[in-house]
Amino acid sequence: MEITLDAESRKPLYLQLRDQIKELILTGGMPGGSKLPSSREMARILHISRNTVDEAYRYLIDDGLLEVHRGKGTFVAEGLHMQKQEESGTRICWESIVTPAANRYTQYRESIGRIQHGDRKLISFTSLAPDHNIFSVEAFRKCMNDVLVREGSVLLNYGYTRGYEPLRKYVYGYLKSKGIYGKDQELLIVNGFRQGMELVTKALVQEGDRVICEAPTYNGVIGILQSYGAEIVGIDMDEEGMRMDLLEKAILEKRPSFIYTIPTYQNPTGMNMSLNRRKELLSIADQYGIPIVEDGFNEELRYRGDAFPSLKAMDHKELVIYIGSFSKILFPGLRVGWVIAPEPFMHYVVNSKYNEDIHTGILHQAGLYEFCSRGYLERHLRYSRKIYRERLDAMLEALDNYMKGKAVWMKGAGGFSIWLEFPPHIQTRPLLEKAKEKGVLFVPGDVFFADGRGGNFMRLGFSRLTPNQIRKGIKLLSELF
Ligand SMILES: Cc1ncc(COP(=O)(O)O)c(C=O)c1O
Repeated sequence: MEITLDAESRKPLYLQLRDQIKELILTGGMPGGSKLPSSREMARILHISRNTVDEAYRYLIDDGLLEVHRGKGTFVAEGLHMQKQEESGTRICWESIVTPAANRYTQYRESIGRIQHGDRKLISFTSLAPDHNIFSVEAFRKCMNDVLVREGSVLLNYGYTRGYEPLRKYVYGYLKSKGIYGKDQELLIVNGFRQGMELVTKALVQEGDRVICEAPTYNGVIGILQSYGAEIVGIDMDEEGMRMDLLEKAILEKRPSFIYTIPTYQNPTGMNMSLNRRKELLSIADQYGIPIVEDGFNEELRYRGDAFPSLKAMDHKELVIYIGSFSKILFPGLRVGWVIAPEPFMHYVVNSKYNEDIHTGILHQAGLYEFCSRGYLERHLRYSRKIYRERLDAMLEALDNYMKGKAVWMKGAGGFSIWLEFPPHIQTRPLLEKAKEKGVLFVPGDVFFADGRGGNFMRLGFSRLTPNQIRKGIKLLSELF
């Protein structure tokens, strides 16, 4: 019996001992009926106290792995029939039994994962995450601490599916300040935008259904829609946003379950849908009775230009399901977002959320509530806008200096990305390896189309790079063309 204990480890010695004996038993190293050394003997061999051994043995007895036979000693329980690990294995061919949808979203996801996988030394334009160097960690730590002291253990118990009530109230108020007047029971706190989107899709889409998206669109949503077997119908955009002539045609031909749109600082294009286009979109959705799923993930990140109301704020016909998130405006690691939708629909989404995970982590919600209600969100947003505006400006300037004549791009006014279009004969994906060798990473445009188009496009995210890194990165990138 080989056991080694580490006196320097944070893990107490009795737990180290318990786990190592447990592993020996479970992997067949100590068969049922084997006798263990007495606690005195074991303590002597391992140079630890007898109490430590007794404590470890007690846990193993409680777990049913050891038995004490009076007057004889401690034995591995007889009833255990553990197999040696090398003998175990599976006769199931998992690859062949997963659904076609599982294969589709896995292949799609992994093809993106490989692109984003880069050395830390590379200048990576692949991320759309906020820059954690500007997070107010100390303020958040205090908020978490205060809220735990104030509310105590209830924050560690189960909570309500719809969300932590003070945060729900805060989000209602926050949305009101953006012109969205949610009624009671219309709001659900979720684990970030993605869970909201997943719950909404689950309630509206069956295998083979059609969903309309902008082309290009957010790759995360392509993955979710694919996992429910939806056919993605991409609608091209012009300088005002999704084209309404194409939308109407697609509605008539495809009878979609819903229209998914990111009207403000769209990912990947950075496009801000014009006010007229917003009105037209609502009117077409109304005319054909098709719900709109609005992704409002980063509409606060406006650096210049017009601020238009969200579709939800303009919707008087209960057409819009709005999904928002704290991921870009605050801390994505907390995984907190919200869905606000007409009550009759929300009823299904809330039940689905309950089935899925009961509720979003209460402690995270409480910490966020404390942080936001003390005004830190507003302060953080103000500071973030300043930082990201500088980065966008560095980006636009560097593109002007190095990429003019090689590609065209829209001068973004908000959000985290710039979308470059190259002449049709230039394909960006094959350039990835060369770019890596030069020390720079980007996302090829085809990732954002569900139909294989987009080969001559590229998305550049700038949120996590300093102006210097941006200038250097764009220069390196330009050398590829
Ligand atoms: C278009 C879009 N919506 C939403 C999100 C945020 O999702 P989540 O809140 O799940 O992190 C992202 C993140 O990249 C995004 O690009």
